[in-house]
Amino acid sequence: MRFQGKVAMVTGAGSGIGRAMAGRLAAEGAAVMCADIDEQAAQATSARIGEAGGRAAALGLDVSDRAAFRAAIERTVADLGGLEVLMNNAGIGAGHPWERTIGVNLSGVYHGLVEGCPVLADRGGGAVVNTASIAGLNGLVRPLPLVDTPVVLEGVSAYVAAKHGVVGLTRQFAIAYAPSGVRVNALCPGYIVTPMTRMAREQEGGQAFLEALHPMGRLGEPEEVAAAAAFLAAPEASFVTGVALPVDGGYSAR
Ligand code: NAI
Repeated sequence: MRFQGKVAMVTGAGSGIGRAMAGRLAAEGAAVMCADIDEQAAQATSARIGEAGGRAAALGLDVSDRAAFRAAIERTVADLGGLEVLMNNAGIGAGHPWERTIGVNLSGVYHGLVEGCPVLADRGGGAVVNTASIAGLNGLVRPLPLVDTPVVLEGVSAYVAAKHGVVGLTRQFAIAYAPSGVRVNALCPGYIVTPMTRMAREQEGGQAFLEALHPMGRLGEPEEVAAAAAFLAAPEASFVTGVALPVDGGYSAR
């Protein structure tokens, strides 16, 4: 129960990794605000937490809208009584136009940091965990004979650029807020079994190709990412800030 008496906010909490993060934090005692652009999905996560005996609430939020992010943080503090942990996890996959991908995957994390860190600092400190990616450390390889058409390359390069940017934001905010007791870290998951990777996994040969990228020979589960996120947010990581932690079955070790 490392988060007993704490309040956490998780973006992208309606699905996949974010849903697992919210569940994990709640299982360890946190009151969790589940935020997602899909408000119904956020409510479903909140309801699941409630059924499991935890405390949660939900709201609709598009993280690319800075003013909306500020309002969501204010509502979390008002409704749940504080804010000690922020998980900037919301994101879209590698198949979207440049502007939207940067708007959600990079600016969305910036908005959480720039609006959230001062609130955590004012309340005496806390922890932020940003979901970057192995695509925040390296470029992505695609199965042959797939050809990177201009449209495909736009989506993939926007994703990789945004995730590299998240690692940079993590380091800069970690330095800026270290004196205020706010730790800022990033996770770099390998391929995880979530709706985001469904298309890649279900295309012909996709599952085997993706598994072979990971020395462990398998993809990750959302709960394995959530466990690492909980570690980074917990008091036991009290001297850890500014890191980009791979959770990738050895993908980035090659
Ligand atoms: P997912 O598609 O299952 O869940 C993403 C959630 O974010 C959805 O509920 C969606 O509605 C929400 N969302 C999308 N745009 C949003 C916005 N503008 N504002 C608020 N919420 C928004 O995806 P998954 O796999 O759980 O991804 C979570 C994070 O993990 C993303 O940042 C993704 O880039 C990252 N990631 C995922 C990996 C994977 O293999 N699944 C690998 C590495 C990183």
